[in-house]
Amino acid sequence: MPANTTATVSTFAEKRSRNEPITVLTAYDYATARLVDEAGVDAVLIGDSLAMVMLGHENTLSVTLDEMVHHMRSVSRAVHKALLIGDLPFMSYQAGIQDAVRSSGRLLKEGGVAAVKLEGGREYADTVRAIVRAGIPVQGHIGLTPQSVNIFGGWKVQGRTAQSASRLVSDALALEDAGCFSLVIESVPDQVATYITGKLTIPTIGIGAGAGTSGQVLVLHDLLGLYTDIRPRFVKRYADLGSAIRQAVCCYRDEVVSRTFPGAEHVYSMPPEEWRQFLAEMGDISGSASHAK
Ligand code: KIV
Repeated sequence: MPANTTATVSTFAEKRSRNEPITVLTAYDYATARLVDEAGVDAVLIGDSLAMVMLGHENTLSVTLDEMVHHMRSVSRAVHKALLIGDLPFMSYQAGIQDAVRSSGRLLKEGGVAAVKLEGGREYADTVRAIVRAGIPVQGHIGLTPQSVNIFGGWKVQGRTAQSASRLVSDALALEDAGCFSLVIESVPDQVATYITGKLTIPTIGIGAGAGTSGQVLVLHDLLGLYTDIRPRFVKRYADLGSAIRQAVCCYRDEVVSRTFPGAEHVYSMPPEEWRQFLAEMGDISGSASHAK
């Protein structure tokens, strides 16, 4: 993507037609979103994974629409080049199509994103149609959809049997037909994800789905080594910021305790005559206050 260009859903379609890999990464706050955008990914996803990596929940189910909007507002202030996609959290769209359209509208109007993502297969085709009809681009998400972790009975790879793989293909086709601009495929054997990609014209974005999808997405905290509670096989750690942060904080603590921080280079000075005048005004002629800790 050329510098200073804002990516759109058309960027996804163009990259797919040129067979260029699409890069997507999550971000949840202003400071890291700015770095991610500067690094030049095609899209930033404010995923409901923030429930786990930012808020410390054991799964993604408890994060609310208000909390998602709060994080999206901070990310959208930071991102100027990448396409911003906001996740619809659990129970913001499952109960009905009107809920889905209203929740999606909030993510655009209040959160500042340009597209929404929802989890689920063909049973959400009409929901996707209604959101797209409202003018909101939708990214689908199939395979291991974390909001259904209780149905799956845990974080289990999906599409491992012929029957479940063919169900995934039907889901993907139904979501494309409903108007999704792209489809996330999570934790699915790579042959199945590659097969689905070949059947669709919209781009697929894989996470734990091998190299045959149109692009890849990872959770930022996994990639940076900032979240270690769960470490799926598909995560590649590109940095160990967890250790770096721990080490930096230990150094800070030790230097405060040993009084080596702050050093002379970190303090503000005062003109000597102002200091003398100050002491005189205080009635302190010894100047001992200057040594007070
Ligand atoms: O919530 C999330 O971060 C996601 C990605 C892992 C695709 O849905």
